[in-house]
Amino acid sequence: MISHTNNAKPFLRALGGETLVPPPFWLMRQAGRYLPEYRELRGRAGSFLDLCYNPEMAAEVTLQPIRRFAMDAAILFADILLVPQALGMELSFDTGHGPRLGRLETAADVAKLSTADLHEHLGPVYRTVERVSAELPPAVALIGFAGAPWTVATYMVEGGSSREFTRTKAWARDDPGGFGQLIDIVVEATTAYLIEQVRHGAEAVQIFDSWAGALDGEDLAAWCYGPTRAIVDGFREACPDVPIIGFPRGIGERMAEYVVETGVNAVSIDTGIDTGWAAATLQPRCTVQGNLDPELLLAGGGAMVDAVVAILEALGRGPFVFNLGHGVLPPTPPENVALLAKTLRAWRP
Ligand code: CP3
Repeated sequence: MISHTNNAKPFLRALGGETLVPPPFWLMRQAGRYLPEYRELRGRAGSFLDLCYNPEMAAEVTLQPIRRFAMDAAILFADILLVPQALGMELSFDTGHGPRLGRLETAADVAKLSTADLHEHLGPVYRTVERVSAELPPAVALIGFAGAPWTVATYMVEGGSSREFTRTKAWARDDPGGFGQLIDIVVEATTAYLIEQVRHGAEAVQIFDSWAGALDGEDLAAWCYGPTRAIVDGFREACPDVPIIGFPRGIGERMAEYVVETGVNAVSIDTGIDTGWAAATLQPRCTVQGNLDPELLLAGGGAMVDAVVAILEALGRGPFVFNLGHGVLPPTPPENVALLAKTLRAWRP
C-alpha cells in the first residue's frame, strides 16, 4: 500500500472532497513555451525528448511555474507519448510538426509491443519525480499523469496528431478484438507507470483523455470508460489513498456517466461544459476541476477576470480545483497568469 497523503496540502484536501475558499489552482501545461525560462532551458536541452529524459532539467521546468505563481500543485514534466515509446515505438517531436510515432497497422505490430523494458525506459521520469518531490514547497502537491488508452492509441495508430482519427476509428469498428488488445497493453503499461510515479513521490494522478470527444454512442463506454476503469481499479489496488483526476475532454454531459463508470475522484471539465450544470450534476458526486478558456487567459484583462469570477461563483461553493479547460497556449503573456492567481486568491463567496 502506497500513501503519501499529506492532508495539509490544499490541493489534496480539495480532491478529498473539502470545499476551500479560495479554491486551490494549477494550470494544464503550466510548464511550457509561454515562460521565457522554459524556452531558455529547452534551447539548452536540445530536443523536447532530451528535456523529458533529463531528470535535472525536467525537474527544474516542473518547478518554474511554481516559483513564479505559487500554484497549489506541480505537474510532472513529461509527455503522454513516452508510454508508446517505452513499449517499443519510435517517437520524435519535430519542431512545427508535433509528435511523430512509427504507426501501428496490423495485429503483428501490436504483438511486437512489450512492457518488458517499461520501467527501465521510464527510469529518468521516476528520477524527475523524486527530485521535484524533494524540492517542492511543503504546501504544494505533485501530480503524476498519463494519457488515457484511447487518446494514446490514436497517436499510435495515426502515427501522430490527427483531426479525424479515421484509421483508429476504422480499426476499433472493424476489428474490436484486435484493437482491444492494443488498448489492453496500454492499460497494463499505464497502470504500472502511474503506480511507479506514486512510489517515487507523486501524490495524485491525472488521466488525460484529450480525444474522448471523438467517441460517441457505445464507443465511449467501450474505449473511454472501460479502459479508464481498468486503470483506476489496478491503480487503487496499489495506491488506495491516492486521488485520480479524469479529463475526458469534449464529451459534454456524458461527463456524469464517465464519473460513475470510471470511479475517478475528480473530473476535469473542458470549456464546453456549463459550470452551473457541473455544480448541480457533477459536484455532488466528485471534486470538479476547470474550466477557464485558454483563449481568455491569452487575452487577459477584464474579460479574463470576469470569466474567472463567474467560474468561482458557479463552482467555488463545493469541492473545486481551479484550472483551464485545456492547456496554456504558447503565446500567453505570463502577466496574465499572475493576474489570474491574484483574482483567485482575492475571491470570497
Ligand atoms: O505542464 C504540463 O502540463 C506538464 C507536461 C505535459 C506536456 N504534455 C508537455 C509538453 C503534459 C501533461 C502533456 C500531456 C500531453 N501531451 C497531452 C494531453 C493533454 C493535452 O494537451 O490534450 C497530449 C495530447 C500530448 C501530446 C503532445 N505533446 C503533443 C500533441 C505535442 C505537440 C503540440 C505542442 O503543444 O507542441 C506535445 C509536445 C509538448 N508536450 C510540449 C510540452 C511542453 C511542447 C514541446 C516543446 O517545448 O516544443
